[in-house]
Amino acid sequence: MTKKADAAERIEALREQIRHHDRLYYAENRPEISDAEYDSLVRELRVLEEAHPDLITPDSPTQRVAGQPVEVFASVEHKVAMLSLDNAMDPAELTEFEARLRRALPGTHFEYVCEPKVDGLGVALLYEHGRFVRGATRGDGRVGEEITQNLRTVKSIPLSLRGKLAELKELEVRGEVYMPRAAFQKLNAELEEAGEPTFANPRNAAAGAVRQKDPAITAKRPLDIFLYHVSHAEPFPFKSHWEALEGLRAAGFRTNPKSKRCANLDAVLDLCRALEAERDALGYDADGVVVKVNSLEQQRRLGATAHHPRWAIAFKFAARQATTRIREIQINVGKTGALTPTALLDPVELAGVTVSRASLHNEDEVRKKDIRVGDTVLVERAGDVIPYVVQVITAKRPAGTHPFKMPAQCPACGAKAYRPEGEAIWRCTNAACPAQLKERLLHFGSRRAMDIEHLGEAVVSQLVDREMVRDFSGLYHLTVERLAELERLAEKSAANLVEAIRQSKTRGLARLLNGLGIRYVGERASQLLASHFVSMEKLEKATEEEIGEIYGIGPQIAQSVVKFFAEAANRKTIDRLRAAGVVMKAEGIGEGARPLAGKVFVLTGSLKAMTRDEAKDLIIKLGGRVTGSVSKKTDYVVVGEEPGSKADDAKRLGVRTLDEAAFLKLVR
Ligand code: IVH
Repeated sequence: MTKKADAAERIEALREQIRHHDRLYYAENRPEISDAEYDSLVRELRVLEEAHPDLITPDSPTQRVAGQPVEVFASVEHKVAMLSLDNAMDPAELTEFEARLRRALPGTHFEYVCEPKVDGLGVALLYEHGRFVRGATRGDGRVGEEITQNLRTVKSIPLSLRGKLAELKELEVRGEVYMPRAAFQKLNAELEEAGEPTFANPRNAAAGAVRQKDPAITAKRPLDIFLYHVSHAEPFPFKSHWEALEGLRAAGFRTNPKSKRCANLDAVLDLCRALEAERDALGYDADGVVVKVNSLEQQRRLGATAHHPRWAIAFKFAARQATTRIREIQINVGKTGALTPTALLDPVELAGVTVSRASLHNEDEVRKKDIRVGDTVLVERAGDVIPYVVQVITAKRPAGTHPFKMPAQCPACGAKAYRPEGEAIWRCTNAACPAQLKERLLHFGSRRAMDIEHLGEAVVSQLVDREMVRDFSGLYHLTVERLAELERLAEKSAANLVEAIRQSKTRGLARLLNGLGIRYVGERASQLLASHFVSMEKLEKATEEEIGEIYGIGPQIAQSVVKFFAEAANRKTIDRLRAAGVVMKAEGIGEGARPLAGKVFVLTGSLKAMTRDEAKDLIIKLGGRVTGSVSKKTDYVVVGEEPGSKADDAKRLGVRTLDEAAFLKLVR
């Protein structure tokens, strides 16, 4: 065989392996190899493709982040029109839906499939001979925008298919691109740190990412997709919608694991109720349940109106939108001095929760929506995300309102406020601003940092206002007698607080670093810094290069850490903390036994003896690691009460499981 033929063979083998691991990781959430092993496969493929550019194909896993920025999106005519769905606002309307089906097809029994109605963007994906060739937005339903390059960067969209569907000449599938809620919150926090405008909800964030002109930016946004419809296939290989979902899964697509077959309408109603109760725990925004007739033959006979198919309906969850009035726009000061406008609202009930404030994000957002004091606005609450203002009802605007203006001064300390060029955020210029100090103290005492119980907002506020605490170290000089000066703090509570502060001295370096609130240094970076440098002294002396060399720490973090220690005020605070007896060494490292060194744990379900966070800390302290999903590399899966699917994953992969008693025995 020639060298070239060897390379071609190896390239194909690598692609096959990478696709296999992509599917396990992104579509099925059960990786079998480590990130490093995966990276080395991709690296080998890249090197071979660089040596043989003629062997590069568009469906190669290396080609995900290809493509130049576009000026305008091309138009795409869909193979089959992308229709909307009819809505059912309550159970009675579902009953009416079935009555309509019966009138259309008398004497027929209907079986259904129910799926969460994910609140994202509908897209159509076209495959030819198993290769992804085109992706499009819904557009007006008939013509959409071509966003192939952007969709190629969504890791759970397979670029080439497996099995039966891979053989079809043409296949068009539909699904919903969305941003998971946790990823959305992380993205917004990052945008805020970088001084860029944030997104009001995950749907907007996903829409912004999908319609990016530069695919490299889309690639950085954590998007995901559920596929829910086969709209065109030649020849058509399925008899029911359920079969189609199974077929999609077998081809490597991600489908919603909450989808269920229901034998009759009662089962549908039960499932709709159950999913509504569960909606906050889904991890993504869903605004209802799509109910579909399962038999494709029945679907064909029922047909569609110009607007929606007659064989499907969307059962809508209780609205989380309401209208109310803006009483006042308040400016909040964050721990880094960011000034955030917040709307104080006439209290209004949204799906069981009374809402009286909404974040307005930043000046540009308020201007864009032209939100004014006195306006009647539409507010929405989505999951556990803070409520936000969707739009102003301009028709109800009273006379004499004024456009909103950010104050030129910090509302807490009166120092000059400024908005750095190119940023969306106004900041207070005063490093000693009491409002900033309050936020920093609250963060210092928070659960994932120094974990000081009883150090709540009311106490912190008084400690700062009375100048009893001027920096973190001030906490360690508080006594029960001094705390007695505070309003509404009983002696017993004061004693509890002093004790909690005393106990926080031994939390260790990682938590202390997290508590200091160094810009860009969160929990994960703090742990990496602590285990690398082991002591505060070593970290204080480290250069930007030394810090940047740590795997997982980027240049932005390295620069920020060095800048932090370069400031005399910060060094003084550290010295005072040291003098107060706060431990400045990494806990458990270099001292004590590390019996779990090298062991990888996954936790599922709840334990009786401790919280999940406590169990995680304990494992880390004893030298082990905790990861989020079960793979062959996992040593133990700790199974508590009401475990999730990870317990099944363990069984399937033959990973050892520990019940609570066995886990406690291991760690004690
Ligand atoms: S089926 C003919 N299933 O809801 C098939 N749609 O209001 C029609 N959606 O444009 C769509 N989750 O973007 C279907 N499991 C699901 C869905 C779903 C979300 C969206 C989709 C559609 C819109 C209709």
